[in-house]
Amino acid sequence: MKTRVDVPSLVALLCVPSLLLAQAPSLSTPAVEARIDALLKRMTLEEKVGQVNQISPGIAFGPQGQRLDAEAQVAAGRVGSMLNLQDGKQADAFQKIAMEQSRLHIPLIFGLDVIHGYRTTFPIPLGLASTWDPKLIEQTCRVAAQEASAQGVRWTFSPMVDIARDARWGRIAESAGEDPYLGAVLAKAYVRGYQGERLDEPTSILACVKHFVGYGAAEGGRDYNSTEISERLLRQVYFPPFQAAIQEGTASLMASFNALNGVPVTSNAFILDQILRREWGFQGLLVSDYDAVAETIPHGIANDGATAARKAFLAGLDVDMGGGVFLSELATLVRSGAVPQTRLDEAVRRLLRLKFALGLFEHPYTGGAPADTPLSPKALELARRAAEESFVLLRNEAIDGTPLLPLKARVGKKIALIGPHAEDAVEMLGSWSVRGRAADVTTLRAALAQRMAQEQMTLLCAKGTDYFGTDESGFAQALSAAREADVVVMTLGETAEHTGEGTSRAHLDLPGNQEKLLEAVAATGKPIVLLLFTGRPLTITWASQHVPAILEAWAPGNQAGPALVRTLFGDVNPCGRLTVSFPRAVGQEPLYYNALSTGRPVHTDTDLTRPPRGYEASRWTSRYIDEFNAPLYPFGHGLSYTTFQFSPVKVSAQSLSATAVNEKGAQLTASAEVTNTGTRAGTTVVQLYLRLQGTSVARPVRELKGFQRLELAPGQTGHVTFQIGREALAFWNLDMKELAEPATLTLWIGPDSASGSPAEVRLTD
Ligand code: NOJ
Repeated sequence: MKTRVDVPSLVALLCVPSLLLAQAPSLSTPAVEARIDALLKRMTLEEKVGQVNQISPGIAFGPQGQRLDAEAQVAAGRVGSMLNLQDGKQADAFQKIAMEQSRLHIPLIFGLDVIHGYRTTFPIPLGLASTWDPKLIEQTCRVAAQEASAQGVRWTFSPMVDIARDARWGRIAESAGEDPYLGAVLAKAYVRGYQGERLDEPTSILACVKHFVGYGAAEGGRDYNSTEISERLLRQVYFPPFQAAIQEGTASLMASFNALNGVPVTSNAFILDQILRREWGFQGLLVSDYDAVAETIPHGIANDGATAARKAFLAGLDVDMGGGVFLSELATLVRSGAVPQTRLDEAVRRLLRLKFALGLFEHPYTGGAPADTPLSPKALELARRAAEESFVLLRNEAIDGTPLLPLKARVGKKIALIGPHAEDAVEMLGSWSVRGRAADVTTLRAALAQRMAQEQMTLLCAKGTDYFGTDESGFAQALSAAREADVVVMTLGETAEHTGEGTSRAHLDLPGNQEKLLEAVAATGKPIVLLLFTGRPLTITWASQHVPAILEAWAPGNQAGPALVRTLFGDVNPCGRLTVSFPRAVGQEPLYYNALSTGRPVHTDTDLTRPPRGYEASRWTSRYIDEFNAPLYPFGHGLSYTTFQFSPVKVSAQSLSATAVNEKGAQLTASAEVTNTGTRAGTTVVQLYLRLQGTSVARPVRELKGFQRLELAPGQTGHVTFQIGREALAFWNLDMKELAEPATLTLWIGPDSASGSPAEVRLTD
């Protein structure tokens, strides 16, 4: 029987950040400012400079590169914050020095890269983004904040909200992917989760939104490389997640390493002062990336530390992370008048305001919780759910008339588990798992063995190969396991060493000889389920044609094994959706769905499987002669064990006045019905895209403007409505004003960025 439900909560909120929306409440109150004033009056110039200096315990360096004793530095009031402490015990020891030995007893703040969990490890951020589930992400950050704060960490250098359009860039693993709208929604979720209701709750930690800005656009996908981004593109694509985080009240922001349009962002006054402070009114703390002030010397805009410090500090940076350049240079610069005293007071005030907001003056120490307490069952359950929601079913072909997944449990049936990730606990944690422990991970092999025993099935295991190198000595065992089995589950992909910071790749294939192993196993003729563990999209073109089932599992975290087994056997139905385009070849990068058209787009009937011949018309269109333009799997793609059907889009009006949109907030609604046409319950992510044509500047061929997760029982129909108003329709026009313009508006409501049937609306004057 078919049922129909109207789900009122499915009116999606279009929460593209716009400065039309209110800023988060300020942390500044008269009482706090009075306490800061009193402190500033008592501080010496050196003590003020000390506050804007951040060090790691092991690596504090002086001006001549000499190693400094961190304890002595803290006692002398030459440190305002620290990063990378081991645990609460070490934090308390340093705090005791600050509170008891430093002249003014100003507490330290301890920061750490708590990126996807503290000890309970959730999927890497790219996996978390694939859930399209802000509520869930907020919950994971809450758990991370609780665990981190118990060990003295009250400041995380997360979320990374860089738009990542290039799979070669290793830090795509830490991103939410290629889309500014989704990036903005998720940025808010991270900030809410970390910072909680109030910063003075003991479990609240400061968010630090990074890397402002353009870091993800590194040329050639090579980490730290320079970027050239027009102001319009910055405003349209790269700024929105930062603006959203600021609206949500992020306490801090990190400047990025890269040069932007010729000026390292660390010292880029247009970005840090003009945009961030003056235009957006950001009141929070601005910290450099690690050693980035000193790095403006090799960038080529300073020949000495004094100039590097002066330029960065005058551009608006407040805190020097790890480099010690502010510590060694600022006092002299202030004394000489090269840096105004007021600028230093302003930076110190921002940091002290956060220390007061966190309640550190009153409660500087941790509660003494041991770092070894067992993980909470609730946190582990959340980790399992997050992993399950992050998996993206890329392909699921039928074998003997039924899709290969989910696997059917049958007594006596044999599964061969092949590949290096199957029992590698460390690799399940992924990159930037700062305090995650391999011992807390349940591997796929362990979880599968348990399940197979329950089902009276047989598990055959063979590693087959390693992540690196060409050694084929494990192939024979893997092939014999495959031959003996009914189904093969292969675990292949990258390691933490291939992903994250400093891991740009010029090749996007399966590393080492994993592809060779895959092809050899496929040659046995046994059906293969390929589980991909990656921190980025890979060029899995061969697998996409020869392997019947492919599940992208990212680095799933602590609960990798149980989450994978439950997914493989269909206890849960995959619902993740890609937030990055999967390329067919490296040469397609940077590859993203929300690109501009060209004046010579490829005609839909062009045969792209062969090069154009001679003067054939398609030669003069924007295409490759040896590859498709389209991705292998588009942004938004993800299959389910059930099927969904989308109705055509219904709009509330055929036309809408752009002036009314701009001046009166006029809106229209677009809606669609989505039916679960399969035989089991499932969740789909309903995605709203639009295109504007006839505008003063060219707009992308599609842009995501809303989404909604929708869970439907078999046969059930859900009705989804999106409001489309100024936030969705305005863009940075030829006059650099963010306005809606007369245009043809095309709308799609569909399951991904490449499908859906369009509806057209006229945007009039
Ligand atoms: C450098 C990275 O770019 C940044 O994201 C991180 O927060 C700092 N190192 C501190 O570890």
